[in-house]
Amino acid sequence: MNINIFLLITLFLIQRSHGVIYELNDTEYDKMPPMFHLEPYGPCVHEPGGVYCTVELKLVSDGPSELMTMIEEYSLRREMHLNHSRLHRGVCVTRTCKDYLSQNTSADIHLVLEGCLNDTFWKQYKLKSKLSTEVLCNDLDNKMDIDYGDIAVAVICLAILMLNIIGSLYDFMFVPNKESKGNKLLMCFSIRRNWKKLVARPADGPDPRLRRLKGFNGLRTISIIIVIMEHSLLPFIISANDSHELERKYYNIIYHILIDGALVVQTFFVMSGCLLSYNLQLYAEKRDINWTMIPKGILQRWFRLTPSYAVVLAITTTWLRFAGSGPLWQSAVGVEVKDCRRDGWLNLIYLNNYIDESQCMPQTWYIAADMQLYIAGLIILTLATSVISRKIVLSVLFVVGLIIPACHTYIQNLDAGLIISPELVRDYFVKDRTFNHTYKRGHTNIASYILGISLGMLIYYLQKNEFSVEKYKKFKLIYWATLPVMLILLPSGSFFYFFQNNPSLYLKAIYSGVARPIFGSIIVLIILGMAFKLENVYRGILEWNGWATPARISYSAYILHVLFVRSLTGSRTTLIHVSVAYVVLFTLGTVIITYLVSYPYWLLVEAPSVSLSKIIFSLGAKEKSKAEAEVRKSERIPA
Ligand SMILES: *[C@@H]1O[C@H](CO)[C@@H](O)[C@H](O)[C@H]1NC(C)=O
Ligand SMILES: *[C@@H]1O[C@H](CO)[C@@H](O)[C@H](O)[C@H]1NC(C)=O
Ligand SMILES: *[C@@H]1O[C@H](CO)[C@@H](O)[C@H](O)[C@H]1NC(C)=O
Ligand SMILES: *[C@@H]1O[C@H](CO)[C@@H](O)[C@H](O)[C@H]1NC(C)=O
Ligand SMILES: *[C@@H]1O[C@H](CO)[C@@H](O)[C@H](O)[C@H]1NC(C)=O
Repeated sequence: MNINIFLLITLFLIQRSHGVIYELNDTEYDKMPPMFHLEPYGPCVHEPGGVYCTVELKLVSDGPSELMTMIEEYSLRREMHLNHSRLHRGVCVTRTCKDYLSQNTSADIHLVLEGCLNDTFWKQYKLKSKLSTEVLCNDLDNKMDIDYGDIAVAVICLAILMLNIIGSLYDFMFVPNKESKGNKLLMCFSIRRNWKKLVARPADGPDPRLRRLKGFNGLRTISIIIVIMEHSLLPFIISANDSHELERKYYNIIYHILIDGALVVQTFFVMSGCLLSYNLQLYAEKRDINWTMIPKGILQRWFRLTPSYAVVLAITTTWLRFAGSGPLWQSAVGVEVKDCRRDGWLNLIYLNNYIDESQCMPQTWYIAADMQLYIAGLIILTLATSVISRKIVLSVLFVVGLIIPACHTYIQNLDAGLIISPELVRDYFVKDRTFNHTYKRGHTNIASYILGISLGMLIYYLQKNEFSVEKYKKFKLIYWATLPVMLILLPSGSFFYFFQNNPSLYLKAIYSGVARPIFGSIIVLIILGMAFKLENVYRGILEWNGWATPARISYSAYILHVLFVRSLTGSRTTLIHVSVAYVVLFTLGTVIITYLVSYPYWLLVEAPSVSLSKIIFSLGAKEKSKAEAEVRKSERIPA
């Protein structure tokens, strides 16, 4: 019932602009050429000499054409509709365009396809077409050409595997009892030891105070799962069988809770900031804080994050291109491989979120932004050590963090929030200016990180003063309201185009400044309530012991999942039907596959590399106190 009222309001509020078609009935819709079409793939490439190409083309018309006008006007509603003058086709050139090939055997494939498709569209729709991208072809004559890079990566992977085998055998055979520690280096690779770490109960942490942050496990795992589910919607948008159905889903605000999940990432920023300041204060109890911690902290973090990241990057740049084939393979996977070869090194120094138009592991913009903010946070907290100076610096930076995105939005005339429109996804986000300028940068996400840092300081302070939550228990209802508020806030960016076509730029700027901090504040509230046991429902869910293990592998899951989303999409040879059942099947399936691979990946790569980096750093620090090691141990990678 609520939904009906909502739709009614929506209808009244929509200000229609001239020349935009908002809806078409099915009869009219089907007059337009289908958005996506793939000819059968297998039979084509199995034929001797068969060539199958995919291409994007642009519809044009020289004279006035009623159909072309309709297509253009319908596509103008870019927030909900695909661009119907930009079609995607998979063509078996050696069959469908046989006539064009035989005319001129030495002809360029580009010209052949252009002529062939142009004639087809002319016959059916009286429209002309131009190819708008390069032609991506799969033919089996393309042998696997393995280069030195591939061999090097294969050798490295094999070496890691061997080390794991040796380490595990060593552990089994020569380290019989618990007391003897064995060779430290070899033990890093013991699968048995790493497995024990993986399934350790969360309450085994060193400091009882840290246990109050146990709910981070739930928060982190749930957020990661939401992120993976959102990303796995990719095939429904770039290869929808029934694009009309897809566009209709965009008119339903309920779906936007799933589609517009961009704000969820703020959870990670808050947790990351909180862990940084909280752990640093625990550390400060035992030892002094001075500027030397800045380079040390940065290096430590780099060594902890980079090896497992680099292995995924290396596989992406090399062997991934042989991992599958299909009409969509080149556009879904091939492009990423190419971009990683060109820009991959930027990922390893965590600057890739300041480079646009690279599709190399695009999800890692977050890891880069988090690294940049971590460095900023570390500098602030080590240089401003007194409480008052920290308060001043953090407040100033928070206000700056509100203003920066607003200025970007205002000056560059961007969207209020990231509009995850179908066209945006088709381009894998790279062509979106809002994504470019406000969404993925480090400096535009600073507000939530500052919130996190302040939260860490607050929790520490309250714990120290033995804060009692009793008199706040009456606010439970407000606390429980956080979840519904979050569900409203998630699609709030789309309210702009649901209700009104041209919201004022001021409004958009204000929204882009405050939306993320508001979401971050809600997360802060949830964490505070959890840390001080305000109630037992949300806390019970988030502190469930079962979250501990998946939370440990969340970094692996995060860096790996897009690989599977892309390969699963790229190895499709047919279009996909858009329906709730398929969406559920596909999103859950992707989550499961990601986790199935992330577990072994954590055991074989991430855990050994983290242990190794700890050994390296403990060699450097001479008078390493036990406390320091413990603090470091408790600091988990915020994925
Ligand atoms: C679709 O709309 C057109 C034009 O508005 C109309 O002529 C046609 O009857 C409609 N078809 C259906 C099935 O409603
Ligand atoms: C749709 O795509 C065509 C071809 O790329 C482009 O010229 C046109 O501006 C696009 N339309 C909209 C509304 O973005
Ligand atoms: C065949 O194509 C080539 C290159 O596109 C062109 O130079 C040549 O003139 C064409 N020959 C015929 C017979 O069309
Ligand atoms: C496309 O087809 C039309 C009509 O047959 C023709 O006039 C035009 O030259 C063709 N364009 C190309 C690029 O082949
Ligand atoms: C942002 O995206 C646009 C669209 O592709 C691109 O042209 C531009 O170079 C990107 N970067 C900046 C800084 O605008």
